[in-house]
Amino acid sequence: MAARVRKAVFPVAGLGTRFLPATKAMPKEMLTVVDRPLIQHVVDEARSAGIEHFVFVTGRNKSIIEDHFDQQPELEGVLAARGKTAELEGLKKDLPEAGRASFVRQQEPLGLGHAVWCARDIIGNEPFALLLPDVLVQTPGKGCLAQMLDVYEQRGGNILAVEPMPEDQLKNYGVVAVGQGDGKTFPITGMVEKPKPGTEPSNLTILGRYILQPEIFALLAAQEKGAGGEIQLTDSMLALMKTQAFYALEYEGRAFDCGSKAGFLAANIAFALARPGLRDQVIAEIKKLV
Ligand code: G1P
Repeated sequence: MAARVRKAVFPVAGLGTRFLPATKAMPKEMLTVVDRPLIQHVVDEARSAGIEHFVFVTGRNKSIIEDHFDQQPELEGVLAARGKTAELEGLKKDLPEAGRASFVRQQEPLGLGHAVWCARDIIGNEPFALLLPDVLVQTPGKGCLAQMLDVYEQRGGNILAVEPMPEDQLKNYGVVAVGQGDGKTFPITGMVEKPKPGTEPSNLTILGRYILQPEIFALLAAQEKGAGGEIQLTDSMLALMKTQAFYALEYEGRAFDCGSKAGFLAANIAFALARPGLRDQVIAEIKKLV
């Protein structure tokens, strides 16, 4: 039986230059989609998949993320005194259990592979999930990571969620090559980070949700810089493919690239439309605009 996935890593050290000036003093992961910060949405996805320990790889000027996942006694006192029980319960429900959130700093922006490597001591020798908070996934039922864990329980190994993309966008992503599939799951036979146009092995991009085995850390430690002069996780995964199986899952749902303005705004509309108490008002407002 495949070892259980208990821990998830969230790389939150990026500078967020695409959202300046919003991200001048505030981390991009705290930008809100409806009324929850991006990072909270992604933590929700991990928690609903059964993840127990949340590892945040942070950087300078990101301490507000740590505060967000802590108690706020003053605020909680005011909510209690005013009888705002629903708000109070909501805040409590969002908190990781005491001792189950860890924060480690990536001291230099050396790339995603380096950020993941920074979590090695906290993860130890067990499989883990990795969720990039730039990507929000809206699903009709189980969340994206929960769908991946279903595949993992059957097959073990390493699992990547993938998404078909138009050809002109493939250069912005990691792209996988796959073999003969079974339903929505395919064995991965190759992968490349930010392929040059014309060299893409398929149209399936790496979405930003991973289940990885701990052997990735030794490879990351030795990983040379790749695309964009950064230490790339994709390059170390390619090396790990020599000894371990990797599977691609075409998950059920829709992803929003919240690292882009259009994707972030689309996520806000989509998540607002999915809120029962908000849907009709949002539709009415959109009708007035278009
Ligand atoms: C990272 C990964 C890439 C993946 C992408 C998904 O790239 O390196 O393989 O496709 O996230 O968003 P980045 O967006 O950091 O350039």
